[in-house]
Amino acid sequence: MTEIWDVDLEAQGPDWERYSSLLEENERARAWKFVSMELRQRYAVTRGVLRILAGRKLNRAPEDIRFEYSAHGKPSIAHASNIFINVSHSGNRAAIAFSSAEVGVDIERVRSFSEPMNLVRRFFSVQEREVFEGVRSEDQEVLFFRCWTRKEAFVKALGAGLSLGLDTFTVPMLADCSDRPLVQDPRTPERWWRFVPLELEDGYVGTVVVDPTAEDIKQRQWLGLDPNSSSTIRQVQNS
Ligand SMILES: CC(C)(COP(=O)(O)OP(=O)(O)OC[C@H]1O[C@@H](n2cnc3c(N)ncnc32)[C@H](O)[C@@H]1OP(=O)(O)O)[C@@H](O)C(=O)NCCC(=O)NCCS
Repeated sequence: MTEIWDVDLEAQGPDWERYSSLLEENERARAWKFVSMELRQRYAVTRGVLRILAGRKLNRAPEDIRFEYSAHGKPSIAHASNIFINVSHSGNRAAIAFSSAEVGVDIERVRSFSEPMNLVRRFFSVQEREVFEGVRSEDQEVLFFRCWTRKEAFVKALGAGLSLGLDTFTVPMLADCSDRPLVQDPRTPERWWRFVPLELEDGYVGTVVVDPTAEDIKQRQWLGLDPNSSSTIRQVQNS
């Protein structure tokens, strides 16, 4: 089972100090390292929501949740070896994943930039580059960011950080991932990973990558601190 929470960081902005009060001292110190107030608030809200949701699952106060970090920086919840988490932020939104198996999530706000081919040549595999070169230039932005979230979500599921070259594996390129729904683990060839696109608000693309044992995937919308505010639920993929 996998749950992806979609958080509108701008809508939660007015409550950012309440979220921030749930954080540990080292997290607050980290928030203050961000150059702008806006980035500080977004980090605090994301961490706060992560703590509240983790607390609900473990029946603990959000402030009592402890995180641990792998050698490459992937966070996990201390003393909760059966719950896997991952986080992504871009623009006004964050995505928070909880799963019964290893998970990676990545979202991106689609934006225009010059010379996409420079990044494609640098980070995409040969097969991905061929697909990219075959689409009309007006479709390249969305394709670029869609592919980018797939590559980042995969690296995040593996927890590999920058140690895994992004051009050493090939991800699905079609919107629904049907061209390559399962991708082999480059480091453990008997292991396969499921790619599933997220349904986000216009202007954002996102992907979740999960172990196939956890592919009953639900997407939920975080609606705020009020404990009575119900969340919307969308079934993304059934096992
Ligand atoms: C870790 C990494 C995947 C983060 O991705 P990003 O798109 O910059 O940022 P996101 O907002 O999507 O993700 C950040 C979150 O990932 C999580 N994270 C950090 N290291 C991680 C790792 N090794 N594995 C999985 N998740 C990780 C953290 O929760 C972090 O959020 P937090 O700082 O609020 O706790 C990225 O920095 C990285 O290592 N990328 C490797 C790919 C690469 O070569 N990129 C080239 C960039 S030009």
